[in-house]
Amino acid sequence: MEELIYRDRRGTNCSKWNHYGNQFQHENLMGLWVADMDFAAAQCVRDALQRHVSFGVFGYDVTPESYYDAFVRWEKTYHNYDVARAWIRYSPGVVAAFNWFIQMMTVPGDAVLIQSPVYYPFANAVRENHRTLVESELVNTNGVYTIDFADFEQKIREHHVKVFLMCSPHNPVGRVWTRQELKRLLDICRENGVFVISDEIHQDFTFAGHVHIPAATVGSYDDMLVTLTAPSKTFNLAGLKNSVIIIPDDTIRKKYDDYVAVLHVASGNSFGVVAAEAAYRGGRAWLGQVLETVYGNYQLLVSSLRDTLPQVVVSPLEGTYLAWLDFGAYLRPEQLPDYIEGRCGLAMDYGAWFGGASACHVRMNLATCRENIAQAAKALADHL
Ligand SMILES: Cc1ncc(COP(=O)(O)O)c(C=O)c1O
Repeated sequence: MEELIYRDRRGTNCSKWNHYGNQFQHENLMGLWVADMDFAAAQCVRDALQRHVSFGVFGYDVTPESYYDAFVRWEKTYHNYDVARAWIRYSPGVVAAFNWFIQMMTVPGDAVLIQSPVYYPFANAVRENHRTLVESELVNTNGVYTIDFADFEQKIREHHVKVFLMCSPHNPVGRVWTRQELKRLLDICRENGVFVISDEIHQDFTFAGHVHIPAATVGSYDDMLVTLTAPSKTFNLAGLKNSVIIIPDDTIRKKYDDYVAVLHVASGNSFGVVAAEAAYRGGRAWLGQVLETVYGNYQLLVSSLRDTLPQVVVSPLEGTYLAWLDFGAYLRPEQLPDYIEGRCGLAMDYGAWFGGASACHVRMNLATCRENIAQAAKALADHL
């Protein structure tokens, strides 16, 4: 069986461990924030990249059909989504793509809805493109998050929402939306003429029997929905900047093609394509190791905190590799940074960044070695 290789990434230019920018007030923190993994990519990916490097010519290239075949097969095999080759487009990142779709499908001032708390580039994309941010907050019941459908519909009607930017599975609350939940959301969007951007970048991280359902497969929504996904989270390839945009509708696809024609970014760099194809073909066993490790880390975290800090609420990890912890029983929001960074020496994403009633939350990245999670759990217990 392929071994999962943990790498100490300190001193390697990675954002997670080294370059904190102005997000944190301390240095030399354990990197448990940004959503990438501390594991070397699958052997098949490293081999394919080695071959590419050995050949040594990195001129202009075209994306081979075999790349598309590999992705189509992956979606069919693991998500039961029949993606036609012709629907697939490139973007250098999922964040770039949802910004572009906001620009394509709305004009300044138009309302875009998100479900907070949610991955903070969602709100940034709305604000930075000068659209109106509308939030339908998820309902938190002792760490389990659900959708307030009445609020969702009311906000859409009240603000004449044009676009719903959906996160599925949901970062940071760890929900894997059910078919029923997705259908209800999409039917409300259909009735109100709302275009849906479905960010499914975490599609391959599901646990404990939860199954990711691509939004596009729950009904006939092709004329109002695009799906954004990528090998970047699944196979830890974020630095290679290769994402997959699925646009089943001809008119929307034409719009996208016209948009990227002006940007001159219709395809990416060859390393991203080589790595993605190799991963989709041969990376399943490696991903299996990752899933096992992540879930083991989650269980360790839950059991440690249950013993030491029983009032910390850890949301059930249905999907993603990100744990969502509520310290509200112990701390006020303004006390969090000193505790998390100053005393525990940890870099985690603060709940306040994600919007909603999350000021006492932190998000912990579980895609690291067991020792780091054990050390972090101990630090949290020792310093509160
Ligand atoms: C929901 C979600 N979308 C997008 C991204 C990042 O995508 P990319 O690196 O392809 O821009 C992340 C990374 O954490 C994410 O959680």
